[in-house]
Amino acid sequence: MRLKLSSFVLAVLVALATAGVAAAGNGGFAPVPPASPNAQHINGLYWLIFGFTAAIFVLVEGLLVAFVVKYRSRGRGRAVEGAQVHGHTRLELIWTAVPVLILVVIAGAVFYELPNIRNAPAAVDPIQITVEGHQFYWQFDYPNGSRSIETMHVPVGENVDLRVVAPDVIHSWWIPALGGKIQAIPGRTNHTWFRADKTGSFEGQCAELCGVFHASMAASVVSESHSEYETYITQTAPATIGQQIWSGVCATCHGNLGQGGYGPAIANNTLLIQPSALQAIVHNGFTGSQGAMPPVGDTWTQAEFNSLEAYLKQHIYKPAPAGATSGG
Ligand code: CUA
Repeated sequence: MRLKLSSFVLAVLVALATAGVAAAGNGGFAPVPPASPNAQHINGLYWLIFGFTAAIFVLVEGLLVAFVVKYRSRGRGRAVEGAQVHGHTRLELIWTAVPVLILVVIAGAVFYELPNIRNAPAAVDPIQITVEGHQFYWQFDYPNGSRSIETMHVPVGENVDLRVVAPDVIHSWWIPALGGKIQAIPGRTNHTWFRADKTGSFEGQCAELCGVFHASMAASVVSESHSEYETYITQTAPATIGQQIWSGVCATCHGNLGQGGYGPAIANNTLLIQPSALQAIVHNGFTGSQGAMPPVGDTWTQAEFNSLEAYLKQHIYKPAPAGATSGG
């Protein structure tokens, strides 16, 4: 019996361990591969806690199965008493003390790692980028005054200091490969940092329910060489801001071609080519019987409106075919 039991427990352990290896990596229960020192430290804590929980899971489930097998009725009559067991003081002391020890180890490890996660390495001069969470897009302001929407560009291997703010409701900035979450809260400025250790694109998502289009509030960080980053913030970002606003902000609700989605179809709407009227509605938002539009553009500059206007005129606005509208 004892041999059967221990070989069963061993089989369960092996099965779990192999399942763990098979499921590791993306799509499994492992976090995304860290690409920043703070994410690396979070990853270490994840595996420490995972180790404890996996061991406890195996122990508890193994004992459960063992007890089911060992104390089954074996055809005994319902009125007959089963085997009688009595309390075990030492066992009870052990299962009280061991969880306390485990919690102490986890708490100790967390407080030991916390400074490495929260605080950027000091000596380096960080690049400061302001992250603004909006219903329903992310906006990034670079040190040279340029701006991008949805996609942040950073130089590889350099410390990036993020000032995280929100003009409307609470959002949560989170690029898992580049560290933990940080909330974007109206009326205050939060700070976090990362240092992308390799080039590539790292994906993330607003992690705080912020309204109907929370789910589409994706963000990505592109890590590239310093010269590519410089080219991006001095040339590419300013030149493409109109297109970025369209695809990152307007198209989310109104469709990629303005054909309509959650928001109404706007491709034929002459408002698109009336700069001051459009600017008023985008800046202030509105609430009407047909629905509401958030003030998506309340922090945009005149140059950005002009760039959006030019883009709309050139690529989105399609005059309604003659005779297609009725008295409208
Ligand atoms: Cu912003 Cu969810």
